[in-house]
Amino acid sequence: MSASSGPPPRVTVPAFRSRKGSGTPLVVLTAYDVATATAAEAGGADCLLVGDSLGNVVLGHASTLPVTMEDMLHHARAVGRTRARALLVADMPWLSYHLGADDAVRNAARFVREAGADAVKLEGGSRRVPAIRAILDAEIPVMGHLGLTPQSVLRMGGYRVQGREAAEADALVREARVLAEAGVFSIVLEGIPAPLASRITSEVDVPTIGIGAGAGCDGQVLVIHDLLGMLPGPVPRFVRRYADLHGSAVEAIRRWAEDVRAGRFPSEDESYG
Ligand code: KIV
Repeated sequence: MSASSGPPPRVTVPAFRSRKGSGTPLVVLTAYDVATATAAEAGGADCLLVGDSLGNVVLGHASTLPVTMEDMLHHARAVGRTRARALLVADMPWLSYHLGADDAVRNAARFVREAGADAVKLEGGSRRVPAIRAILDAEIPVMGHLGLTPQSVLRMGGYRVQGREAAEADALVREARVLAEAGVFSIVLEGIPAPLASRITSEVDVPTIGIGAGAGCDGQVLVIHDLLGMLPGPVPRFVRRYADLHGSAVEAIRRWAEDVRAGRFPSEDESYG
């Protein structure tokens, strides 16, 4: 064993940021617990995002608006205990950064202290700059999030692709520049036309991470439940399903239930003498 062997080094915020323009897209995946964090890391994700999509795919809410700080911390702690190498980013839930800069800093710091997060993510543009600056002043890196921001579902009137009109597209480019100038280390671009995402990517000096934003971003993110087919039902157009874990789980449980009902489970080998 050489002296240099050992666990691979952690992905840090500066290392993540420096991948802008490297030619190898960043791989970001959501994780909410031990099973999803272990799979995401073993699969090679550069960054685990404890997303507030937790509300939809884990907690059964119809939107992310009911998700609380306590919900997020409960899952961020589990991911924090599990991750080995990937950057850990925790999503700030709705109203955890809207009520004043002090409140935003206090909530962001809980993710660092209690879950071991490396950074927080929050949604929105120039209106969120005071909160972003305050969190950065407390030495906590911030990831931005623009476009189809799910916490704005009531204002948007649904989950619709944003930035289709020229004026709206120009405004999103301006907002991305404002976030980059405020000091975010990366920006998630969600649900916007691919040419607009490419334009933003070429105009900001921090990595853009796309979801439903085409191939021109510096990286991609997906919700792990969508990628693995962990839930039944349709998925958005931008999702590519690489597995059908829900189907496999139902089939495995059906076979086990049949064995139990037929008296085939447990066998002697599966019992203590
Ligand atoms: O909450 C989430 O999972 C997210 C990603 C989809 C970007 O914000």
